[in-house]
Amino acid sequence: MKRIGVLTSGGDAPGMNAAIRAVVRTGLYKGWEVVGIRNGYAGLYNNNMAPMGARDVGGIIQQGGTVLGSSRCPEFKTEEGRRKALRNLEEQAVEALVIIGGNGSQAGAHALSQMGFPVVGVASTIDNDLYGSEITIGVDTALDVALVAIDQLKVTASSHHRAFIVEVMGRDCGYLALVTGITGGAEYIVIPEFETDAEDVVEAIRKAYERGKAHALIVVAEGAKYNARGLDSYFAKHHERLGFDLRITTLGHVQRGGTPGAFDRLLATRLGAAATEYIAEGKFGVLAGLNNGQVTSTPLAEVMANKKPLDLNLLRLSEVLNI
Ligand code: ADP
Ligand code: F6P
Repeated sequence: MKRIGVLTSGGDAPGMNAAIRAVVRTGLYKGWEVVGIRNGYAGLYNNNMAPMGARDVGGIIQQGGTVLGSSRCPEFKTEEGRRKALRNLEEQAVEALVIIGGNGSQAGAHALSQMGFPVVGVASTIDNDLYGSEITIGVDTALDVALVAIDQLKVTASSHHRAFIVEVMGRDCGYLALVTGITGGAEYIVIPEFETDAEDVVEAIRKAYERGKAHALIVVAEGAKYNARGLDSYFAKHHERLGFDLRITTLGHVQRGGTPGAFDRLLATRLGAAATEYIAEGKFGVLAGLNNGQVTSTPLAEVMANKKPLDLNLLRLSEVLNI
């Protein structure tokens, strides 16, 4: 092995830079050249890549986002697009790739691997919806960002005795909402994995006031049927009957832009270094993830074939704790 490549793809996640740094420096330490590919699969497709030195990744471990850039690249979903990418990799003499990203990015990694190119994935998405890693890079920081907002919303909610609906990201997965709700002390949590009716939310708010609470905080996942938009239109229709003052906040992309905390920096560093070691060992077509505190490799075929389960016991725990 002489030359490897690294890219970040899909939604950026706090800690991606720490993973890039770990791949670049571990590769250089082994005497290889490491090529940084710009803007995810778009850089493979457009042949936008350049070698990186140890100093190029200096001062980035503490930065959110990704210095390599990221993208959603529809061309890469086609076999023709991936063939073009493979031709560019051959031209650049890149022999193996580390692909840092979430579900879609690892689907792309798997597709490339099936075409015979040596790849290793690194589990990175704030959604925590990737099978093969109990926790993915960026989740911990995204949760911290959401909690700062929730703690502040509760202050104003209490002053005005208001109910607040706060929507968090997560695409189709309720993990961010579930953990934000539990750790933010929400009165109710709405996630796609558990069917909820809008009237359940109304009931939860009413009961919170009956129990003497000064506010009611409802955390909803963007992927739930009754997300912020769904609840907003329901509440607008039933405004007269409800009898409480309600505000809605959608946190959105702010959750992706946080400064990576110690957990994400360490996780990203371990996974980036491990992925590079897997390349040295000739262990390809796998995802570097964290399970039971240990770095593990899971075949990408297995990652793609499975859905990560969500621990619904946490939802029940939240019911107990918000009495
Ligand atoms: P994330 O990795 O954060 O889940 P996306 O789902 O947007 O983000 O995926 C990132 C990119 O991965 C897509 O824009 C596309 O280029 C590539 N990708 C996604 N799914 C596939 C697939 N099934 N086959 C090949 N490439 C894919
Ligand atoms: O996958 C990360 C994520 O932030 C999801 O939580 C969200 O649904 C999506 O990306 C937003 O994508 P975009 O940045 O393209 O709007």
